[in-house]
Amino acid sequence: MKVLVVGGGGREHSIIKKLCQSEKISKIYALPGNGGIAAQAECVSVGAKDIDGIVKFAVDTKIDFAVVAPDDPLVLGAVDALEEKGIPCFGPRANAAIIEGSKVFSKNLMKKYSIPTARYEVFDDMQKALDYLEEAPIPTVIKADGLALGKGVIIAMTRDEAKTAVRSMMEDKIFGASGNNIVIEEFLEGPEVSVLAFTDGKTVVPMVSSMDHKRAKDNDEGLNTGGMGTVAPNPYYTKSVADECMEKIFLPTINAMNAEGRTFKGCLYFGLMITKDGPKVIEYNCRFGDPETQVVLPLLQSDLFEIMQAVAAEKLSECEVLFSDKSACCVIMASDGYPQKYETGFEMTIPSDEELSAEVFVAGAKLSDGKLLTAGGRVLGVTAKADTLKEAIDKAYSAVSKISFKNAYWRKDIGKRALNA
Ligand code: AMP
Ligand code: GLY
Repeated sequence: MKVLVVGGGGREHSIIKKLCQSEKISKIYALPGNGGIAAQAECVSVGAKDIDGIVKFAVDTKIDFAVVAPDDPLVLGAVDALEEKGIPCFGPRANAAIIEGSKVFSKNLMKKYSIPTARYEVFDDMQKALDYLEEAPIPTVIKADGLALGKGVIIAMTRDEAKTAVRSMMEDKIFGASGNNIVIEEFLEGPEVSVLAFTDGKTVVPMVSSMDHKRAKDNDEGLNTGGMGTVAPNPYYTKSVADECMEKIFLPTINAMNAEGRTFKGCLYFGLMITKDGPKVIEYNCRFGDPETQVVLPLLQSDLFEIMQAVAAEKLSECEVLFSDKSACCVIMASDGYPQKYETGFEMTIPSDEELSAEVFVAGAKLSDGKLLTAGGRVLGVTAKADTLKEAIDKAYSAVSKISFKNAYWRKDIGKRALNA
């Protein structure tokens, strides 16, 4: 079968490397892919947000199955448009992708269906938001309604910071139209857990849990990024927490989406905080996490393509989804300066996965005259697996030390918090 994967980052590379293990697939196309993905898939220069271009390519190439990985095309309706042409897809339709596309939608959904989350207020008027902040408990959290490349959340430690955040979103429009509506919510405390789950709208199958490291610098300092590294499983996600999440969060969310006529099919990402009052939802994403996928999929023992087809056919309950009980650690190698200004275009030296005893997922790179050059903020994800988390971390860092490119930067403490848990 010919499979198309929309997207071009480290997450897509890990999805594609896993799909390559399926005997059913004869060829994979990546739209647009990247210089590293080109080793496994034919990269086609159609942007991930170019819905018409994606559909045209899929129809012209007689694609049998499509995987839409990033948030933007999902929210823009890529799955709806492909399905209209009779192409089965893995990923939610636009009316379900809104669970990530609008924080106002997801907060109201959780309130309506009593799914545990931080208390909140929604504002479409800046003055009302500023008035509310005169009395609101501090610290507080300000969120732009729409997609903002994972940057639309500001944790304000003082009242002035909170007001500045509101003005920057609603007056200066730093996130464009995403800031027309904002959510101001209660600041929660506790360890964070990411749980990705396969769901066909009837059955929900959580994958192995993971822990992201969002801040740019060691000890969780510096700016928020897309994620600087991950480990799996997450030690804070105990059996009893998992049971509570299934009962109070996962199943109620799937049922709530069905009740709203917005059946969610694909990978639903639960960003959770384990508070002293139990697990609460910090955010939903309508897709695989990045770089969570880079530790979760290497631990998947079942055939990813069969699972994706079962989700599309609403037969997930008939499908085997098995994970290894090993641990995994992914260290992101970034361009120094990320998430702000950084230089690109540097040649990389990357030994093979076999030589590294690790898997390299390429996030930001392009091929030029047969050479792989850096081309993004997050450049590589380097994942190692082992029987224990400690060994996985050591193996991942050992692999990182054998890879080189100019201006490479990585956090030195990925997994430290999980080890101390
Ligand atoms: P998000 O982009 O929604 O994942 O938010 C980015 C990060 O902000 C999360 O991973 C949390 O660390 C933090 N965050 C978001 N909402 C809250 C909250 N209500 N309380 C405390 N931290 C939060
Ligand atoms: N790693 C967080 C995300 O994918 O949104």
